[in-house]
Amino acid sequence: MPSPPIVTIDGPSGSGKGTISRAVAVRAGWHLLDSGALYRLVALAGRKRSLNPDDTQGHAQIAGSMDVRFDVATDGGEAVILAGEEVTRQIRSEEAGQGASRVAAWPAVRSALLDRQRAFAKAPGLVADGRDMGTVVFPTADLKIFLTASPAERALRRYKQLKDKGSDVSLPALSREITERDQRDATRTVAPLKPAPDAEVIDSTGLSIDQVIDRVIALGRERALWA
Ligand code: C5P
Repeated sequence: MPSPPIVTIDGPSGSGKGTISRAVAVRAGWHLLDSGALYRLVALAGRKRSLNPDDTQGHAQIAGSMDVRFDVATDGGEAVILAGEEVTRQIRSEEAGQGASRVAAWPAVRSALLDRQRAFAKAPGLVADGRDMGTVVFPTADLKIFLTASPAERALRRYKQLKDKGSDVSLPALSREITERDQRDATRTVAPLKPAPDAEVIDSTGLSIDQVIDRVIALGRERALWA
């Protein structure tokens, strides 16, 4: 069977990957992989089972066996279900992001998630959002995007996003946490955050969401991925 077309969208936290990936997937009518949600879920499931936060093997086992479903909520938004429990809000906190970034540095967790991520590649196509989609998980993707924005803009975007979701956050604390998380993601030895050599780098600082979506759509059109 021919492999379905794949677009990867990687980049640091707050670069707009999630929003852009979802919009491109909707426009193309393709599937979406939010790989960050998987790392968030591993950390959350570990906490729910009162696992020692340093238990690498325990977390790797969870990564390989956890029962996860990505659904559409009644309001049309996303619904993430872990072992029958809706955890959509729980996994979106910055605390969950920090937990994800810790377990994501462990090779055993990353390899336990590989097949699960690759299974998302189904016809008519896949938009994959993460840190290592174009470098490790889908190295032969048809189009690779690396999305960045200035640290100040990324912190502000995350701040607005969390505020909109009703979280009580402070901008200076969030900026510090994001810098720390980026630093850990970019310097880890396995699958560090970096653009694939053949990635199209888009700096979204000062661009609107629609401008970034249009740019990705245009790049996909150049590669005949859609009309
Ligand atoms: O994208 P999101 O903020 O949900 O990702 C949470 C964390 O999961 C990241 O900070 C990163 O450490 C990890 N991650 C990863 N590889 C991916 C996606 C996320 O290491 N493909």
